[in-house]
Amino acid sequence: MPTIEPTGQILGATVRGLDLAQPLSDADFAVLLRALGEHGVLRIPEQRIEARHLRDFSRRFGPIQTGIGGKFHHKEVPEVGILSNVVENGEPIGLADAGQDWHTDMSYTDTKGFVNVLYAVKVPQRDGKPLGDTLFANMHAAYADLPQEVKTRLAGMTATHDFNKFWEEMRRRPGSARAPLTPEQRAKRPPAVHPVFMTHPITGRTVLYCNPGYAERINELDEAESQRMLDFLFAHQLQQKYLYAHHWAVGDLLIWDHIGTLHNAIPDYGPEEHRLMLRCQVMAEKVFDPAFQRQWLRAA
Ligand code: SIN
Repeated sequence: MPTIEPTGQILGATVRGLDLAQPLSDADFAVLLRALGEHGVLRIPEQRIEARHLRDFSRRFGPIQTGIGGKFHHKEVPEVGILSNVVENGEPIGLADAGQDWHTDMSYTDTKGFVNVLYAVKVPQRDGKPLGDTLFANMHAAYADLPQEVKTRLAGMTATHDFNKFWEEMRRRPGSARAPLTPEQRAKRPPAVHPVFMTHPITGRTVLYCNPGYAERINELDEAESQRMLDFLFAHQLQQKYLYAHHWAVGDLLIWDHIGTLHNAIPDYGPEEHRLMLRCQVMAEKVFDPAFQRQWLRAA
């Protein structure tokens, strides 16, 4: 049975006693799922795995999203995406600027993202310290601390999340190689609508499900009030007291819950300081299913 060691911070736990090159037992999966709800971000250190192991592990949590992140997928295991600033023979081997601002993956699709699973192959270092942290913010805590009048005002309201909002934000960054999305590309990723407050499928507690990367409008408010409210929510949810930084080490497998957290990849390394992550993005198809919840959450 794996052991769970909480960081003692607002998010995060280290899981010991697992070798992910081996199949995950049902009992161990149930332990991980509950720990994920409780701690939001789980680090499983010192793994020596291949892309197929990452895929097989990730699939336990739900279907893996494919086709996101453009052309950068593992050749033999296309469910695995490559995030990297490494350039080989003049060609980038991975998506270099993924997730470099606060967001929640796939909040812009009807079926939301559930978890991201990243495996660290190369971690940049300077003066003996790792670079390229991933930051997280705790949306259970952010909801709990909202003023009661905001909870009451927004109860039952929805927000529109648009892929193009984050894309345009990245395009504005100096040196961005991203072209504007074509009308065809935009049509393939139409905006999605989700409740601003949501019951978390693992913890059963309410989370604030609204992120600066993709949320662009609270639908039940007029434009000006929507903007004021979004500005308030974005400032509120990113207060230092809700933040946790993961410092990467080679061999870390990190899994995080998108429904209860936001994240932000920090690009504080140069082109010669190489970062290489393998990633699977898992959709929230199974985790809201009552049969799945009965099997994995209530039985254990
Ligand atoms: C992501 O947003 O999926 C990327 C996170 C990271 O590279 O740290």
